[in-house]
Amino acid sequence: MKRIVLFASGSGSNVENISQYFANNAKVTIAAVLTNKSDAKVLDRCNRLNISALYFNRTAFYETDCVLDVLKASRPDLIILAGFLWKIPEKLTKSFPNKIVNIHPALLPKYGGKGMYGMHVHNAVKANNEHETGITIHFVNENYDEGAIIKQVKVKISPEDSATTIAKKVHELEYEHFPKVIDELLHG
Ligand code: GRF
Repeated sequence: MKRIVLFASGSGSNVENISQYFANNAKVTIAAVLTNKSDAKVLDRCNRLNISALYFNRTAFYETDCVLDVLKASRPDLIILAGFLWKIPEKLTKSFPNKIVNIHPALLPKYGGKGMYGMHVHNAVKANNEHETGITIHFVNENYDEGAIIKQVKVKISPEDSATTIAKKVHELEYEHFPKVIDELLHG
């Protein structure tokens, strides 16, 4: 049995999509979802999907070992950041080398780094009249959005696209590719 722990800060539509993808797979289980927002929509989804979920605050995350201890007890084969907005502390990256994977809604190294999340990314892509955008799935190291790239997928942007339709295109890519990449990483 392979075990996944997911981190999410917001809606959690990727969490739900990943959970659906593995729902009929007896060899993969979602051990837990961890969130840093007590009112995140992802918690409602976990409730509905019967996934254990845990909230932690900033102090617990950065100044105690409590998240590290939860992770160790969960024995994850992979830790997936699916829309998680806080920087991962070094004690976690050091404890789980090459086991923490993030998805970024653009083609890194473009549109990455601090403050580049959600609609900020898609607004910037639109403002720069880019002809393409996409997703980047990458390992997490001590710096935002800088770990080794596992997979990038591109999508074309037409002049009629708005930041909102760009976001929709990118989300569709995420739903299609993120679970498959996780599956491949789990099963080598
Ligand atoms: C996704 O676009 C992901 O790439 C980014 O945060 C967003 C999360 O969306 N890191 P959701 O919460 O899964 O709907």
